[in-house]
Amino acid sequence: MQTDLRGRDLIGDLDFSKEEVETILDVAWDLKMKRAMGEEHAYLRDKVLAMLFFFSSTRTRGSFEAGMAQLGGHAAFIESRTTQISHGDTEKELGEIFGRYFDGIAIRHVDWGIGNRYLNLVAEASRVPVLNMQDEIYHPHQCLADIMTIIEKKGRDLRRKKMVVSWAYASSYLKPISVPQSLILQMPRFGLDVVLAHPPEFKLMPEIMDQAQEQARKFHTGFEVVDDMEEACKDADIIYAKSWGPLLTTQDPVEGKKIQDQYQDWIADDAKMALGKDDVIYMHPLPADREIEVANSVIDGRHSVVFDQAENRLHAQKAVMALTMR
Ligand code: CP
Repeated sequence: MQTDLRGRDLIGDLDFSKEEVETILDVAWDLKMKRAMGEEHAYLRDKVLAMLFFFSSTRTRGSFEAGMAQLGGHAAFIESRTTQISHGDTEKELGEIFGRYFDGIAIRHVDWGIGNRYLNLVAEASRVPVLNMQDEIYHPHQCLADIMTIIEKKGRDLRRKKMVVSWAYASSYLKPISVPQSLILQMPRFGLDVVLAHPPEFKLMPEIMDQAQEQARKFHTGFEVVDDMEEACKDADIIYAKSWGPLLTTQDPVEGKKIQDQYQDWIADDAKMALGKDDVIYMHPLPADREIEVANSVIDGRHSVVFDQAENRLHAQKAVMALTMR
């Protein structure tokens, strides 16, 4: 067990070693049990987390804010548009100044080519941990909740279990690529054979693909890329099907939507779920475009674990905060 996480940033999924992620999961389960039993666990009494949002959120805001309160501290919700950032506050100033007010700085910034750099520049200037609430490359806290949920449903021995990370059609907006990228980086470390499925225009970042291949080699797991959702779903133990924008092809929303609209049959429906094993689970980080990205009968059906998955955001993040912000 690697427990020395005090003061550490969590920006990319591989910032913490596998052993460190296992520690986070163990602490998360302990905190989950303590909450269920009504046991006090105020490990961060009087500590304050700044939550700086450049993009909207339901789960991330709710779970970080509730988590800090349950740990005996407080979370300050700060929307970037209500700050002086657009009038000149730099990343260095944010890091220096918020690092002196707060005990941790959590940031969501998903703008293409900007968000991850922003987080890293704040972290360079900050004396307190910087936690990534999603940027355009990574969504590490979502991924921690995801592996926690998979272990709860499938057990700790995940060797030879098939996880499908599939693109799905959505009509609402071009969603970030950070969730599938985090998944392909983290899941091989836990023994899962990952199959990534997407239409040709929906490639992930080449450097992330290389790192995912490297993790798969290191942990002796499978990592395959296919362009057929049905082929991918065959014999799956886990189907994690969500939309993302064709952002490596175009960042133009109109052009991107035109590309996206060609693939409306990429929906997680009963027929796709039936291709998986009988006990296959359906995962999605939410929000989902219902009846477009996923059929109601799937997201509300017997295979779906989306509410347990959303709940685990709370426990996993509390573990990260308790370990890094003490
Ligand atoms: N899954 C997730 O990050 O949800 P929000 O965008 O609502 O925070």
